[in-house]
Amino acid sequence: MIKISPSVLACDFSKLGDEVKRVDEGGADMLHLDVMDGVFVPNISFGAGIISSIRKKTDLIFDVHLMITNPQRYIADFVKAGADIITIHYESCDNQIEVLKQIREAGVKASISIKPATPAFILEPLLEYVDMVLVMTVEPGFGGQSFISDTLESVRTAAAMIKAKGLDIDIEVDGGITAETIVPAYEAGARVFVAGSSVFKAPDAAAAISALRNAVK
Ligand code: DX5
Ligand code: ZN
Repeated sequence: MIKISPSVLACDFSKLGDEVKRVDEGGADMLHLDVMDGVFVPNISFGAGIISSIRKKTDLIFDVHLMITNPQRYIADFVKAGADIITIHYESCDNQIEVLKQIREAGVKASISIKPATPAFILEPLLEYVDMVLVMTVEPGFGGQSFISDTLESVRTAAAMIKAKGLDIDIEVDGGITAETIVPAYEAGARVFVAGSSVFKAPDAAAAISALRNAVK
């Protein structure tokens, strides 16, 4: 079973509550929430306050993607805001294991992400501390970019390491996911798919989500 996690970064923020409802009713499995601090990535999005306010609008799994430096400072805030899964970036801190443990101890699923240029093998010692691995398929920072095919190698490496260790860890891909690019990403081993533009910019979100699912049936 695959999971579709629409990224609200591509939605109409003037109607945030309705936009969330649109993908919830459209068959999304999760809601992807991109938190950017203008330091780790060259863009600023939103923080825990916004997440907390949309928590009241849906029961979807909140898949919070932290693109912020030293994420340990804010884990408690995002847990309190209603996160179900928190992803930190490998490149955003030096104490990844400590932060991943902090996330799990707070009762939330922990996930680690790598940027396109970061080799996937560096995740090997972290795998026992995570529930999900997020392989970025674009440079983090902006929605609407084109899928980078070279990142499929990282998905394959992550899948092989997870299998070798016999762990139950999902691989998520994020960036440029469409009904076309989902196919090679699925074949490489990804099972959770973030989709911003391809879902929120489509006139019919339900049809866009179905098209993603049907592409890998
Ligand atoms: C990029 C974000 C993505 C982005 C995906 O930094 O992490 O989640 O919103 O948007 P699309 O699907 O438009 O590439
Ligand atoms: Zn994201």
